[in-house]
Amino acid sequence: MDIKLVEEALRGVQHPVKEIDVVTLGMVEDIKIEDGKVRFKLVFPSPDALSSSIKKSCEEALRRAFPAEEFKISIMELVRERKIQKRQTVALGQESLENVRHIVAIASGKGGVGKSTVAVNLAIALARAGFRVGLSDADVYGPSVPKMTDTEFEHPQVDDSTGKEMIIPIEKYGVKWMSIGYFSKPDQPLIWRGPMASNALKQMILQVQWGELDFLLIDLPPGTGDIHISLVQDIPLSGAIVVSTPQPVALADVEKGINMFRSKNIDKPILGLVENMSWFTPEELPNNRYYIFGKDGCAVMAKKFNVPLLGQIPLIQSIRESGDAGEPIALMDREDGKSFGKLAEKLIAILE
Ligand SMILES: Nc1ncnc2c1ncn2[C@@H]1O[C@H](COP(=O)(O)OP(=O)(O)OP(=O)(O)O)[C@@H](O)[C@H]1O
Ligand SMILES: [Mg+2]
Repeated sequence: MDIKLVEEALRGVQHPVKEIDVVTLGMVEDIKIEDGKVRFKLVFPSPDALSSSIKKSCEEALRRAFPAEEFKISIMELVRERKIQKRQTVALGQESLENVRHIVAIASGKGGVGKSTVAVNLAIALARAGFRVGLSDADVYGPSVPKMTDTEFEHPQVDDSTGKEMIIPIEKYGVKWMSIGYFSKPDQPLIWRGPMASNALKQMILQVQWGELDFLLIDLPPGTGDIHISLVQDIPLSGAIVVSTPQPVALADVEKGINMFRSKNIDKPILGLVENMSWFTPEELPNNRYYIFGKDGCAVMAKKFNVPLLGQIPLIQSIRESGDAGEPIALMDREDGKSFGKLAEKLIAILE
């Protein structure tokens, strides 16, 4: 038995409401093993009615993990309310992010897996939960946020009152949106090359008057190329969410995505995976699930890379239709849109 193995065993204990394990939630602190005793602190961010049952689950998980060993367990429960932190220092050129608490990149290796759909609906779900949210569409090749939010004919204003030109984001559905798509005609293709693309992309994040935000989501273009690396190095990300379908070709690219964020010169945490198009349920057969792209592919990846699976989103016609109509499903109180609300709750639980 060692500290790592104890931590590993505790990863098997989920918070019953948040549906995330206690280690990922940052609730386990100061694991010590001495004199035949395993000790650690179980920290709750606020008083929690489930604390004794979670504590019991931790004990059971340890007994299960080390059945042959004799040891005592001492768990100290404590409540430590987390203070809202302001970003204390920002690098030169990052002033627009000074009052943004969490910056989360939504990434995927493969294109077309539903990254923008997840990003836009997640942004709306977070806003509906009472948070201040912004979303930057950093897909210089195929910006889709204007269409998905029915803002494609908007023209953002520029504020230069401080001596620096800052773009004012478009507000709709309780979210501040920014996209390179606002600076081109909807029917014109955008043609960018390396450095130009990565500069334009940074402008969509750094030259925007975000103001105070709880969450800034960044919808990255698909892939793991130079543009991504340059961007994620220059933005103070809290972490990344990787979106994939359960299909093997998409999963192979998830691995590349995770490795990019974990590489030495980027080193940003993976907050979790989101599996999109997990199954198809036809409206007339609501209890049937067809696993068109395979089953549980992302769960396997999540396990392999030791990251949480934040959610599984079914393939539903109304998700596609609502996106095309510019009124994302997360706006509606429908059963179909609930998976995004749950996703938002998990992200909040991890970051707050
Ligand atoms: N769960 C879903 N159910 C039904 N349709 C979906 C779902 N997720 C995404 N789609 C549809 O699939 C298409 C691709 O989705 P989206 O544009 O979000 O993918 P993307 O990963 O952002 O693509 P790109 O790589 O081009 O940026 C869209 O038409 C979208 O409406
Ligand atoms: Mg997209």
